[in-house]
Amino acid sequence: MPASPPHILVTGGTRGIGAAIVETLTARGARVVTHGSKDTETAIGADLADPAAAGALWDRALDRLGGRIDVVINNAGVFEPIAVDASVDDWHAAWSRTLQINLQAAADLCRRAILHYRERGAPGRLVNIASRAAYRGDSPAHWHYAASKAGMVAMTKSIARGYAAQGVLAFTVCPGFVMTGMAEDYLSSRGGDKLLADIPLGRVADPAEVASVAAYLALEAPASMTGAVLDVNGASFVR
Ligand SMILES: NC(=O)c1ccc[n+]([C@@H]2O[C@H](COP(=O)([O-])OP(=O)(O)OC[C@H]3O[C@@H](n4cnc5c(N)ncnc54)[C@H](OP(=O)(O)O)[C@@H]3O)[C@@H](O)[C@H]2O)c1
Repeated sequence: MPASPPHILVTGGTRGIGAAIVETLTARGARVVTHGSKDTETAIGADLADPAAAGALWDRALDRLGGRIDVVINNAGVFEPIAVDASVDDWHAAWSRTLQINLQAAADLCRRAILHYRERGAPGRLVNIASRAAYRGDSPAHWHYAASKAGMVAMTKSIARGYAAQGVLAFTVCPGFVMTGMAEDYLSSRGGDKLLADIPLGRVADPAEVASVAAYLALEAPASMTGAVLDVNGASFVR
């Protein structure tokens, strides 16, 4: 169990799954600092497309949480298409942006968290929100998205194996479709209801369902679960 009340940084907490995670953790008594691409009354702004942004976000979050962070939830992410016949410059720009936001920024925050846990000599947790795409792949316009999420799974497993002995626990959540703005765009661009036929549960997940899994991993999951990858996809991809 993290310290009580646990101090938690949630990236991408301004809407969608991240907002549900913030709500769930706050209701359970955690002290949560959230983040979005721009400063708001509640969120620390940091555009994770900027390679320096994750470090600056860590410093501001640590300051806002009085110098102690117990859990980081890397949830911020983009799902932006790039066509196989786009120009090579556009193709490289899309790959670079998606890998920077979805993977490198999360890696940078995991790194800062591990150094912080080590400096404090205290245990800590990392919860990374990847995707079913890490295992199943994604559409022809989203190779880079699937690759970024597969990278996140491999990164998190490496952290779990490398730092368990120091008290660092690391978990991944792999949602399938989740009814947020992002999923709505995706569903409508793919023929809407036809996609539901691929989900045995008959519906996409609610953000609160993903949030409950993330909160469990952040607050309660036993140490022996470290390295686990939890699917939340209505049995649309069973591993
Ligand atoms: N929805 C799904 O179907 C689904 C499925 C599998 C996995 N996931 C993963 O779950 C996570 C959350 O998805 P979601 O559907 O809730 O997304 P969303 O509704 O589009 O929200 C994305 C969040 O990430 C932040 N963000 C986006 N680009 C950013 C940037 N450049 N710098 C800083 N923050 C940025 C947004 O901040 P602003 O509000 O400031 O833009 C927002 O808080 C993502 O990692 C996504 O890949 C989602």
